[in-house]
Amino acid sequence: MQTELSGKVGKIAKQNNTLIIKADTATAYVSVYSPGIIRVRIAKNKVSAADSFAVIQQPLAGLTYQEHEDNIEINTSELKLRINTSPMRFNFYTPDGRLLSGDDERFGTVWQGENVANYRKLFKNERFIGLGEKTGNLDRRGSNYVNWNTDAVDYNAKSDPLYKSFPFFIGLHDGLTYGLFLDNTHRSWFDFGSSTDHEMYWLGADGGDLDYYFFGAQGPKNTNGNIAQIIRDYTWLTGRMEMPPLWSLGYQQCRWSYMSADELLEIARKFRKHNIPADVLYCDIDYMDGYKIFTWDKKTFPKPKKLIDELTDMGFRLVTIVDPGIKIEKGYRQYDEGAAKNYFATYPNGDKYIGEVWPGRCHFPDFFNEKVREWWGGSFQALTQPGVAGFWNDMNEPAAWGQHIPPIVKFGNRYLPEFRNAYGMQMARATYNGTKKLLKNKRPFVLTRAAYAGIQRYSAVWTGDNTANDEHLLLGCRLVNSLGLSGVALTGVDIGGFSGNPTPELMVRWNSLGVFTPMFRNHAMIGTVKREPWNWGKQNERIIKKDIALRYQLLPYIYSAFYQAHQTGMPVSRTLAIDYAFDDNVYQHIYQNQFLFGDNLLIAPAESNVTGLKVYLPPGEWYRFSTDKKISGGRGIKADAPLTDLPVFIKAGAIIPMQNIVQSTNEKSDGVLQLHIWNGKQASSFVYYEDDGVSYNYEQGEYHKRIITFDPRRKQVTLSVVEGNFVSRFDRVKVIWHGFGKAASKVLSNEVGEMVIGY
Ligand code: GLC
Repeated sequence: MQTELSGKVGKIAKQNNTLIIKADTATAYVSVYSPGIIRVRIAKNKVSAADSFAVIQQPLAGLTYQEHEDNIEINTSELKLRINTSPMRFNFYTPDGRLLSGDDERFGTVWQGENVANYRKLFKNERFIGLGEKTGNLDRRGSNYVNWNTDAVDYNAKSDPLYKSFPFFIGLHDGLTYGLFLDNTHRSWFDFGSSTDHEMYWLGADGGDLDYYFFGAQGPKNTNGNIAQIIRDYTWLTGRMEMPPLWSLGYQQCRWSYMSADELLEIARKFRKHNIPADVLYCDIDYMDGYKIFTWDKKTFPKPKKLIDELTDMGFRLVTIVDPGIKIEKGYRQYDEGAAKNYFATYPNGDKYIGEVWPGRCHFPDFFNEKVREWWGGSFQALTQPGVAGFWNDMNEPAAWGQHIPPIVKFGNRYLPEFRNAYGMQMARATYNGTKKLLKNKRPFVLTRAAYAGIQRYSAVWTGDNTANDEHLLLGCRLVNSLGLSGVALTGVDIGGFSGNPTPELMVRWNSLGVFTPMFRNHAMIGTVKREPWNWGKQNERIIKKDIALRYQLLPYIYSAFYQAHQTGMPVSRTLAIDYAFDDNVYQHIYQNQFLFGDNLLIAPAESNVTGLKVYLPPGEWYRFSTDKKISGGRGIKADAPLTDLPVFIKAGAIIPMQNIVQSTNEKSDGVLQLHIWNGKQASSFVYYEDDGVSYNYEQGEYHKRIITFDPRRKQVTLSVVEGNFVSRFDRVKVIWHGFGKAASKVLSNEVGEMVIGY
């Protein structure tokens, strides 16, 4: 096999906003997207103009560079890129000259056939985090991964690849952090020094260009590492999520499948009868007529509108599943239309590709084609008309029985291997755009299994078919936290485990953890035991109910955390590596599953069969949430973990807005915003955000936002003047002091002007 190193630099030229550097066997295209983001695209062949699925920004104008004897330099206020010319090697530095990351001097970028790889320097103390939905450890050093969206049936804590591809990671060494996003939808490879004697690490793809974005801004001074800045920049480049519908943050009950309208109504009634808060019910594949997408089974779901109206009256939203496979059946509208218009994937000779999935023999829509996306999006009318509010996209890796769709399958004039990893994302995009249009000014909720970088613009994600055991409970935390590092904030796992049956203890524990999972959805496979909260005995039901109620009490805090994700890309579930990047404890295997939920809550996931565990509390003061007991951090502690009380800790100085228990997000609260403040030595602040939770009016200024500050020096809490013109749901504010000795709670009327509350 011929192996080509990119060789020496020859001619250089500037075209528009791009520096073009011709080397022996390849050409590099370099452009600056922002002072902290530089794109390097190294191509062997002519570059194609095909748009990126992920990137929504354009390069900056006015690129400048300096040519020196043996290198070319591009300098921004945040980054220095030095390109050595003989041979061509790329090295990124901070403006003051500290090396962030660069090519391995010997190899740099290499082609073997169509396969391209980039060999990079590995620092002795370098760690890696990210790559989205990947199993393994928080620190990815010493591991290797493949991106190839897969229906990962029965995956375990080591399986790779899973359903999604996020070829984006963060490197950390010597107090410095950087990010690298390989924007390539072919099968891609990341090897963080697993078999290279710790000399170098490498990444690459089966085809396409070595097209990457380097993130090097070091963020504001005196932050502990600057991962937050990298996530901010990455989500600026690939887009941020819209505000999610508030109801999607409530409790979601799903099952494969609730088999009839009557069964769904029965479940809804039971939630209300048992006073267990819930917002969302699901229809899995069996609501359809013969698994035909956009149809309803006439016998079991005869009157979808009536069903949904009744659910709505009880305060429930309905989400239905759609898979990409279109059943081959004359007279079925989606088949007839799609076939007539050539909207399906084909073989090179034009025959339509046929694969088998739930409905039997199917064709697969070409979601890469805008016309097909529009057609698909419009078809949701069959679901939105009776009132479906959320749209669950499954099997979109794409999956077909056998799991080996031949590489000669074509979408338009491109073949599946070129962009398999983006198929699911394009389906979610079509779903999101179509339903957004159909729902007028209402926010659609889209949930997808397969995804590529940038998916947060369109959809929430869940981690597919996990298993009912403790290993998966812990793995789920790492998957969700790692998805958060890839800019996806609305994420979840099947609470309770999809396949297998959880013990009652595991169900209870996983539900406790669900409270602190961005999307809180209980889901299970067909044939497993019933998972609804009342199936676990009276005592367990009481715990499950108390925990779900806590989720609803925390919604003002959680919604504000989603506002942060919407504004800055900061995930809601945050590995401790974000805030404590250079604290070795965070990466220890016994602590690596811990995370912050929003700014102020630290969650220590406990397995179902333990009554206590070791927890690492980062430096500073903490409180146990359930008891208000103060604990000093900077060390591992032994924490009690009875089934009734998941170890959750509060940062000193925390401000946590809460509300009373409601049965759904539709229900009015008692009108009191509870501001819980935990005493601390340092001043702190919290951005409180509220809007109507359902519409896009917030984009027109219909929101209510204020900064709440705790100042121990002045012994007061201040609520800034309200920004935006949405009238808060809460007409009173109650301040509840924790760790302040005798300070008594106060109830005040909620003013739009500044409020200063002393203690
Ligand atoms: C897939 C999904 C799962 C769903 C099932 C039936 O396995 O991952 O969530 O319940 O298909 O639609």
